[in-house]
Order: sequence, then structure tokens, then C-alpha cells
Amino acid sequence: MNADVFTLFPQWFDWFMTQRHVENALALGHTVEAVDLRATTPLKWGQVDDTPFGGGAGMVLRVDVMEAALRARYGVDPVELREQRRVIALTPTGRLLDDALATELAREESLTLLCGRYEGFDERILEHFVTEQVSIGRYVLAGGELAAMVVLDTVLRKLPGVLGDDASAIEESFSEALGGAPEYPHYTRPAQWRGWAVPEVLLSGHHARVDEWRREQSRRRAEGPLP
Ligand SMILES: C[S@@+](CC[C@H](N)C(=O)[O-])C[C@H]1O[C@@H](n2cnc3c(N)ncnc32)[C@H](O)[C@@H]1O
Repeated sequence: MNADVFTLFPQWFDWFMTQRHVENALALGHTVEAVDLRATTPLKWGQVDDTPFGGGAGMVLRVDVMEAALRARYGVDPVELREQRRVIALTPTGRLLDDALATELAREESLTLLCGRYEGFDERILEHFVTEQVSIGRYVLAGGELAAMVVLDTVLRKLPGVLGDDASAIEESFSEALGGAPEYPHYTRPAQWRGWAVPEVLLSGHHARVDEWRREQSRRRAEGPLP
């Protein structure tokens, strides 16, 4: 996968790139690049945003700035770029990120993520340059960078070979393998702690019974909220 993140703060991604699973993905030939929106702005003094028409607080990311950045990166009109790759604007009101969407995105060969700041994007960016909007939750962050990292984190860990054991990403909360249900509980040593015992079945060595117990726990968790 080749993932590009357009941002005003590319340095935010320096830390992200050094995380183990991201490093693993890069070592496998996948790419994640933070593209600086200021580097290609056609405006003076690195300007990228402007005051909103109609008045009001905050600054709005300009459509000409976004067009210049996308054209410089891909060499095509951003309106046509949408036919070549998924171009996702991170917005608080977009499609909510869930495991199904992460799985869908993990199948893509290339992804473009656009991070807003301040008041957000000029609406024409959303109308003409993007294939979709994605939200990581119904709350408002200061910028799209953390949202982009959340999207990439969950997408990259689904790519084969990125986790130490690929099975870790198959049977987990909300996965198809568990029918969308929460994952079952895990325990490790010590088997007893302050009188809190590990369920006997997990110590039995009986794989079929363990599996049955886990499915049942998962189903129960799906029925009611976790404490
Ligand atoms: C302060 S927010 C803008 C909020 C916008 N004025 C509104 O009320 O919807 C700045 C940027 O942060 C990003 N952002 C904020 N919350 C987000 C969320 N929950 N999911 C994804 N991106 C988010 C978006 O890129 C957004 O353009």
C-alpha cells in the first residue's frame, strides 16, 4: 500500500513512522508519506488558509492550496485523481471508522488522506477532490493528523506480515471471524492472584472447549455493554 497524508504538520508523523508495526509495514515495501501542504502553496509567505466568506471565527483551508498540493504529488487534475485512488478527507461528520471500513481500506493499493485544521476544509475540496469523508468519532479534534494516524494504524496492522503473528488481526473485536462481536477475555500468568482465578477451562489444554468458551464469552459481550 502507498499511503499519502496531506497535512500542515508533517512532523507529527515522525513519531508514527517509528512505531513497530509501521516500521514493519515500511520494511515490507509499503509506504506512508506525510506531504506538507505549505511546500506547494501558490500563495506568498506559505499561506494555506483564509478567513471564511460570510464572516465568523477561524480559518479555512483553501481549495487552490489543496489543488496545488494534489497536482504536484500526482500530476493530474485532483477531480480526476478520484478515479485512480481513494482520496479521503478526515472530518468529524464523515463515515464513522469501524473494522469493516478498515478492512475495506486495507485492500486498497493506494490511499490519500487529507487533514484539515482550524475551521476545516473549503467545501469545494470536499465536493470535488475527495471520494469520501471519514470520521474517527463524533467529537471535534484540533486537526486531522491524529485521525489520519488512527486510520493508518488500524489499516496497516491488517496488512499481511505487519504484526508479529497475522492471526492477531483476524480474530479480534468487531472482526468477521467473531461475527462483529467483541473479543473474548484474555488471561496470562499468574493463574491465581489475590484470589482472582483464571477460568478453569483455559488451563485445561482442551482446545475445542477453550474455543467454545471463547465464542460464548464473545457472544455474551455482544449482548450487553462491557462493565
Ligand atoms: C477543528 S476541526 C474543524 C471542525 C469543523 N469546523 C466542524 O465543526 O465540523 C479541524 C480538522 O480536524 C479534523 N477532525 C476533527 N475532528 C475529527 C474527527 N472526529 N474525525 C476526523 N477528523 C477530525 C478535520 O480534518 C477537521 O477539518
